[in-house]
Formats: sequence, C-alpha cells, structure tokens
Amino acid sequence: MSNKIVLLPGDGIGPEIMAEALKVLELADKKFKLNLKFDEDLIGGCAIDAHGVPLANSTLEKCQQADAVLMGAVGGPKWDSMDASIRPEKGLLKIRYEMGLYANLRPALLYPQLADASSLKPELVAGLDILIVRELTGGIYFGEPRGIRLLDNGERQGYNTYVYAEHEVERIGRTAFEMARKRGNRVCSVDKANVLEATVLWREVMQSLSREYSDVELSHMYVDNAAMQLVRAPKQFDVIVTGNMFGDILSDTAAMLTGSIGMLPSASLNNASRGLYEPVHGSAPDIAGQDVANPLAMILSAAMMLRYSLDQTKAADAIEKAVGSVLDKGLRSADIYAEGSTKVGTRQMGDAVVQALNEV
Ligand code: IPM
Ligand code: MG
Repeated sequence: MSNKIVLLPGDGIGPEIMAEALKVLELADKKFKLNLKFDEDLIGGCAIDAHGVPLANSTLEKCQQADAVLMGAVGGPKWDSMDASIRPEKGLLKIRYEMGLYANLRPALLYPQLADASSLKPELVAGLDILIVRELTGGIYFGEPRGIRLLDNGERQGYNTYVYAEHEVERIGRTAFEMARKRGNRVCSVDKANVLEATVLWREVMQSLSREYSDVELSHMYVDNAAMQLVRAPKQFDVIVTGNMFGDILSDTAAMLTGSIGMLPSASLNNASRGLYEPVHGSAPDIAGQDVANPLAMILSAAMMLRYSLDQTKAADAIEKAVGSVLDKGLRSADIYAEGSTKVGTRQMGDAVVQALNEV
C-alpha cells in the first residue's frame, strides 16, 4: 500500500523550502521503504491566480483522500488588497476547517547549538522544550456572527464572536493531556477567564476533564500573564493548551525563544490523525526567490508528518538527527547565522541534510 501525500508549496518562500523537504523525503522513502506517492497542488495566492479561489474544491478533495498533506506557506503583498473572502489565508483556514484539523501542535524546541540565536539570555532558554497545543477550528477565527455592519448613526462597526462549545474544549484538552503524558506530565491551560465567559467555560471543562488524567498536573493562567511568563521564565512550561487566537499569538512568541521561527515545524491533526504539516513561519515574501530562506522548519515538518500520520518513527528520528548533525557542523542559514559559523543558502542547507541523512 502506498502513502499518498499531497504537497502544497504555496507562495513566497514556500516552493523553495518545499523543494528541499522533497529531496529529503525522497531519500527517506528509498532508505526506509516508505512507499510515498507525491501529488502537488495549489493553495493561497498561486491558487487565486490560477483558479480565482485560494483553495479549489478539487484540491480539497485530493487532500481529504490523502494520508497526509505537507504545506509550505501562503500569502504575499500581491494579494493583500483582495477582498477578505478570497485572501490566500482563507485557503488555509478552509482546509483546516474542512478537514477537521482541530489540534495544532507547535513545539518550541531549542537546539542547543542555537542557544545564542535566541533573543533571550542563553541560560533562560537552554534546554527549552515547550509544546503549544492550539485549538484550530473554532473560537473567534470561525465564530458567527462576524462581519462589518452599518450602525444607525452611519458609523461602521466590525464584530467577531468568541465561541467554544464544550465538546470542542474537551477534545483539544484530551490532545493536550495525552501529549503531556508522553513528555513532562504538565498542562497549563491558558484563558482569559477573568473577562471572557467563553473562557470561563473553557476553564471549567479543562478542570473536569483533568479528573480523567489525575497523573497529569493541570494549571491555569490568564493569557496576558502567559505572554509575560513566556519571555520571563519560559522553561516553567511543558504543554500549553489554549484557544485559536491566543495560540496563534503565543506560538509566535514561543517560536522566537528558540532563536528563529525558521526552525519550527507544526502539525494540525483531526480525529483520524490525518494531518496537515507546515512550518510555523509564513511565506516571507521579502526574501522569496533569493535562496536565503531556512528550509529546516519545512524539513522538520516533513519529519513530523512521518511520525504522526504515517507512523514512521525511524525515518522521522533519522531526519531530525540529520538536521541536528548539520547544525553541529556549523551550517547556518541567514536567520540563525552567528559569527564563526558557515552561512549557507536554502539549497545548500537542504543538500547538507540529504547528505547527513545518507550517513545516518
Ligand atoms: C498561523 C498563521 C495563520 C493563522 C494565518 C496565516 C491565517 O498566522 O498559522 O499561525 O492565523 O492561523
Ligand atoms: Mg500565526
């Protein structure tokens, strides 16, 4: 049986970094007999250019039938002024929603070789290993009603709705508790229960769920405090579980603690562990096409895909080890470059991982 993988390179640096991840996957396929079958398609701005919509139904269907989806990034200035309903980001939100990818796992792991690249003091981040579990198909991102309306006085008013039903909180809570069991056994649930009723309920559901996971320690933190604690003493966290919008914001902060957002992969999973894998960083249009983007988050996303959706632990371990050994050799893309190391471009970095994987 083959493993069908849909590749969605997207916009900006997406295609460049995807090309490197594909090289790595092709080698892993040969080495570990993974029987991968690739099919490439469009998402985001390039899909708008080709089809007039950021995610064609035919692409969505392909993704729903695949074993996993590997995505680059979407968006860019070319499409920024488009009507909100067909912006590139809508393609990403649609695929998350339609595939039911409610559990977004965003690890913030500091490679010891990169401790100096963090904007925090090395002693604050050395050994950092946090997992942010972000709810991805609900909350204010999808809540109705939403829009911009005209008030009686002629003024316009923008509005969105922050909603969470109990089952939505419970299922993401389960993901967090299960993940914590495989790590440090601690979950910190982040909310704004001092102000928002939706998160009062969130906290209640987490508390009652925690009775089923008495071996895991549950704590609660308001989101403003969590943002502060992440830059004050980030190592206090193991697993952070939170809603869609807070997770969006906190995961960027957590990413930067590790030195570069260019290093971090993510997985978005549904009930069936089918998933979409993408780097946490965006399409970086300012550096697109220059062979300077860091392909490691994309390559690590491919490893995550092998681990979570295809159950290929050995191949995933080998790719992660290859990335570590490339860093050991002192190779650095521009975003993680420090004096004394060797600056390399996107392709050279990809080639180095391929070579290291060959040697693993
Ligand atoms: C992310 C991104 C997306 C989000 C955008 C591109 C829609 O910021 O994956 O974190 O807000 O979820
Ligand atoms: Mg974001």
